[in-house]
Amino acid sequence: MNKKLKTKNSYLVQLPLIAERNRGNLSFCESKKQIPFNIKRVYWIYKVPVNQKRGGHAHKKTEQVLFCLQGSIRIELDDGIHKDSIILNNPNIGIFLGRMLWHEMEDFQKNTILLILASDFYKERDYIRDYNTFKKLTQK
Ligand code: TYD
Repeated sequence: MNKKLKTKNSYLVQLPLIAERNRGNLSFCESKKQIPFNIKRVYWIYKVPVNQKRGGHAHKKTEQVLFCLQGSIRIELDDGIHKDSIILNNPNIGIFLGRMLWHEMEDFQKNTILLILASDFYKERDYIRDYNTFKKLTQK
């Protein structure tokens, strides 16, 4: 079951888990099912030095679901009004990041691997990288 968060346009995505005795685990997701959009892009983030932050932006239209496949991170969410601070450390649980959600990933454990599924191709013009600009847009 998905769990809503305080910040708008965000929730935790719980994936099916097939845990077979002696064979290990398998999780999966599909477009328009566990992932609420058609997946157009997949990218992954790895070899992040401990103490390094990533993210620090919002997307105007692109939606994403982020999974921590290995290791652990803390993700800070901010919709301009409400904030959330979530630890992701289970490959079976992702976080949906909808439109206009400022997010920062920090507290990377060594050897952490993040997998991100995105609703659109990479377009720099879809990013808001300045927090004050983001804040103004969300106060309208
Ligand atoms: P960025 O989204 O800023 O990374 P993070 O959110 O982890 O801090 O992207 C870092 C760089 O990679 C930036 O120059 C844009 C480039 N990039 C692509 O070319 N394609 C992509 O799909 C992504 C996500 C980033």
